Amino acid sequence: MSDKGTIQSSMVETRKFPPPPEFSRAAHISSIADYEKLHKRSIDDPEGFWREVAEGCHWFTPFDKVVEWEAPFAKWFVGGKTNMSYNCLDLQIERGRGDHTAVLFEGEPGDVRKLTYNNLRDEVCRFANALKKLGVKKGDVVTIYMPMVPELMIAMLACARIGAPHSIIFGGFSASAIADRVHDSNSQIIITADGGWRRGSVVPLKQNVDDAVAKCPTVQNVVVLKRCENDVSWNDGRDHWWGDLVADESDVCDPEHCDSEDLLFILYTSGTTGKPKGIMHTTGGYMVYTGYTAKMVFDLKPDDIYWCTADIGWVTGHSYITYGPLQNGVTVMMYEGAPNHPDWGRFWDMVARHKATIFYTAPTAIRAFMRQGDDIPDGHDLTSLRLLGSVGEPINPEAWMWYQKHIGGEKCPIVDTWWQTETGGIMITPLPGAMTLLPGTATCPFFGIDAAVVDEQGVEQPANSGGFLVVRKPWPSMLRGIYGDMERYQEQYWSQLDGIYFTSDACRRDDDGNFWLMGRVDDVINISGHRIGTAEVESALVSHAAVAEAAVVGIPHDIKGQALAAFVALKADRSASDEIKRELLAHVVKEIGAIARPETIRLTDALPKTRSGKIMRRLLKELASTGEVKGDTTTLEDFNVIANLRESDEG
Ligand code: WTA
Repeated sequence: MSDKGTIQSSMVETRKFPPPPEFSRAAHISSIADYEKLHKRSIDDPEGFWREVAEGCHWFTPFDKVVEWEAPFAKWFVGGKTNMSYNCLDLQIERGRGDHTAVLFEGEPGDVRKLTYNNLRDEVCRFANALKKLGVKKGDVVTIYMPMVPELMIAMLACARIGAPHSIIFGGFSASAIADRVHDSNSQIIITADGGWRRGSVVPLKQNVDDAVAKCPTVQNVVVLKRCENDVSWNDGRDHWWGDLVADESDVCDPEHCDSEDLLFILYTSGTTGKPKGIMHTTGGYMVYTGYTAKMVFDLKPDDIYWCTADIGWVTGHSYITYGPLQNGVTVMMYEGAPNHPDWGRFWDMVARHKATIFYTAPTAIRAFMRQGDDIPDGHDLTSLRLLGSVGEPINPEAWMWYQKHIGGEKCPIVDTWWQTETGGIMITPLPGAMTLLPGTATCPFFGIDAAVVDEQGVEQPANSGGFLVVRKPWPSMLRGIYGDMERYQEQYWSQLDGIYFTSDACRRDDDGNFWLMGRVDDVINISGHRIGTAEVESALVSHAAVAEAAVVGIPHDIKGQALAAFVALKADRSASDEIKRELLAHVVKEIGAIARPETIRLTDALPKTRSGKIMRRLLKELASTGEVKGDTTTLEDFNVIANLRESDEG
């Protein structure tokens, strides 16, 4: 973190939006005074506070201790036995929600399916029984690589029911990315589909799994859902159709009594090295925190029709499509395909037809919609909406204003929610009935969250000075480690400041205490709200036979927020050509997936290095963003390298 220098922030925003009085009146938290009182209590007496919240969940055996903290290792709700799927399904049914719609699904071709809480429990139990029959036991990691269809949610809840941790891989990742993750998690079973619909075409999910499994001999079973009816190759004995497996299964499956600290899932995310990190989340704390944040942040009420447009393959989908909302018994909308299929009105058409009340999306999507023109959303009846949300990256004030006006009709509060795969749930966020909003700030820490902006020594910064965002106390849904690599866990998050969680995000607080997030301070790039480690893309490039060395940096991008710029030194016997550039781009897509495809690639003889041999990414970033290098080059070993790079054409 030392070579980043002082963090400067020059953004000043004065437009203020107090909560609409009618919204506040009906809200769970209806004034800033209520927020402050409860937040103070949650920090002064975390055990008492979280005990009360957790008592709202169902436990087979009550916990006997709220938290055990030996930095950086936390245990929450110690001794408690529970089941996440029971809390999402059975508990809701006991509360009289059995016939209420749990999932309102729309496929890209337009097929609509509704499952009540009763239906969803039946399906989950059938599939859980099928998994057991395939030999899946408590503690076995189940890999899921599926399109955004209800069976994805059914599969994850079935895993939770039998205590088998899931590892969900986003459907946009490539075969190599699947193979790496399957290998890292020692998973022996993959659940997939023949394909999924995306912009009118079929994404060949089964084919990708076949290619991955060729490299993972430990995989014994592949379960395939029939979605697109595309041709797939078949391996008898290993492959099973989902429909055949569940056909004769009972719709009763007793939920496993899981310990609070039993692993609920692994979710791989990018870090600063080439190897993705398997972030571990356990059962009790994650359950309590996601259920409670979903209720408070989205101000959930029984009749809400809640739509989060994320993919379940990312943490947003884990926490705020499946686990958080279902624990609150609401109707969750789910959409399979692209936002612009068949046209840019798709989302607004869906909001209008299904009467969505809450809409949660990413700034990158908002910017893309903005560019298409106001008349598209303005031509749809969006009056059912009462609350909007944003997640994944800082939302620029102009996008915020557009969202508020054209989607929210100037009456919906916007919750700009800051959090991470590692935090499990929303950490810094407005409570929509309480906070006065300013476009661009995620406002204040959630209950129980002791967030601060500090310098490198851990000293809290005065208002309006930038620094590092940290969390000083443990919270229920914090990650419990990195799968198979606890050293990396300590090093990555806890080595900067003793006993304090280091987020790797830069931030400042304003005079009113609002948190303004300013982006990452490490080599992780946020593309369309998704984290890509530059090191990962560099290793993908270097794995190509023609490449000697590669450096990848982030550059600003109008729609995606950030994009990747790659600098590649070819091996001496290779010469630069457009063809090799194309080949390298395709290689990255094959190794990681389309989201990691660099926006530009420059071929060069050598990369700029310090005398000690470190690639000077700072200079490359400046060059890629501005076309020039004005920054400090005193440590540069060979000045010609920059001159040559500047001349090399971009593509
Ligand atoms: C960024 C996504 C500003 C941040 C839930 C964080 C945000 C990374 C916001 C985590 C926000 C997420 N404002 N920045 N509201 N939300 N980020 O793990 O840099 O995919 O560290 O989790 O996204 O990304 P991840």
